[in-house]
Amino acid sequence: MTFETITAEPNAQGNSGVTLITLNRPKALNALSSVVLEELITAFAAFQADETQKCAVLTGAGEKAFAAGADIKEMSDKPAADFYLDDFFSKWTSHLVKTTRKPWIAAVNGFALGGGCELAMMADFIIASDNAKFGQPEINLGVAPGMGGSQRLTRAIGKSKAMEMCLTGRMMGAEEAERANLVVRVVPQADLLADALKSAATIASKPPMAAIANKEMVNAAFEMTLEQGVIMERRIFQILTASEDKAEGMAAFIEKREGKWKGR
Ligand code: CAA
Repeated sequence: MTFETITAEPNAQGNSGVTLITLNRPKALNALSSVVLEELITAFAAFQADETQKCAVLTGAGEKAFAAGADIKEMSDKPAADFYLDDFFSKWTSHLVKTTRKPWIAAVNGFALGGGCELAMMADFIIASDNAKFGQPEINLGVAPGMGGSQRLTRAIGKSKAMEMCLTGRMMGAEEAERANLVVRVVPQADLLADALKSAATIASKPPMAAIANKEMVNAAFEMTLEQGVIMERRIFQILTASEDKAEGMAAFIEKREGKWKGR
C-alpha cells in the first residue's frame, strides 16, 4: 500500500505480525493534516482487517518529531462552521481508538505536541525516546486541545500536571513523562524503534483474541464503575475459556511446550 504522507509496513523489519506505521512529513514535523488522517484511517483499517497482523507500532519519520500537532496551516483559514459541521477531529477517535481493536504502540521519537500528544495517547501505551517532548500548547494559538488531550492527559497524569500543561503550554520531557506515568519507558533515540518493535513482537506472539480482550478490559476501566468493570472482566474471562486458544494454552503449559495459537 502506498501513501503520500505516511508509510505502512506489515511484518516490519522481519517481525512477523507487526505492522509499522510511520508519519512521514518530517519537513513539517509530521503535522497531522487531513490527508494524514485519511491515510492513517486506511492504514489502521488494513491492519485491523489483516488476520496475519497482530500488533502495530506508530512512529514519526526523522529525528525531531513524532508529530508537532494538527496542521496549523490547514486550520488557520478554515471557517468555524466547517469545523463544527464536519465534526472536525471526531474521526481520530472513531477510527484509531474505537475501530482499531488490535493493540498498537506509539513510539514517540521527539516532539509530541497538541494533536501529536493526543494521537500518542490514543495508543495502548507509549514508549518514548530520551529526546521526546510532550505538550498541549493549543492555548498559544487561542484554542484548546481538540483530539482528547484535556481528557486523556488528565486521566494519565492527574489534574495538576495536566492543568498546568494545558494552561501554560509547557512541554514535558521524557524523564518527567515516565515519572508521571504518561509513558512506559524511555530509551535512547537510536534504540527506540527496535525497542517498540520488540515489544510489539512479544504482543504479536500471544493468543490474538486474548490480546484484544485484554485491551478491551483495561480500556473499560476508563469508562465504567469498578463494579461494572469487574463484572465485564469476569464475563470476558468466562467467554475466553470457550476458545480454542484457552484449550491450547493450558495444554501447552501442562505439556511444557510453546502454544500454537488459532486466534479463536
Ligand atoms: N502544523 C503545521 N506546520 C508545522 C507544525 C504544525 N503543527 N509544527 C511545525 N510545523 C512546520 C513549521 O511551520 C515549519 O515549516 P516551514 O519550514 O515551512 O516554516 C517546520 O514544521 C519546522 O518547524 P519550526 O521551524 O517551527 O521548527 P522549530 O524547531 O523551530 O520548532 C516546534 C519546533 C517547537 C515544535 C514548533 O514547530 C511548534 O511550536 N510547532 C507547533 C506546535 C503546536 O502548536 N501544536 C499544536 C497544534 S494545534 C492542535 O494540535 C489542535 C489539537 O488539539 C488537535
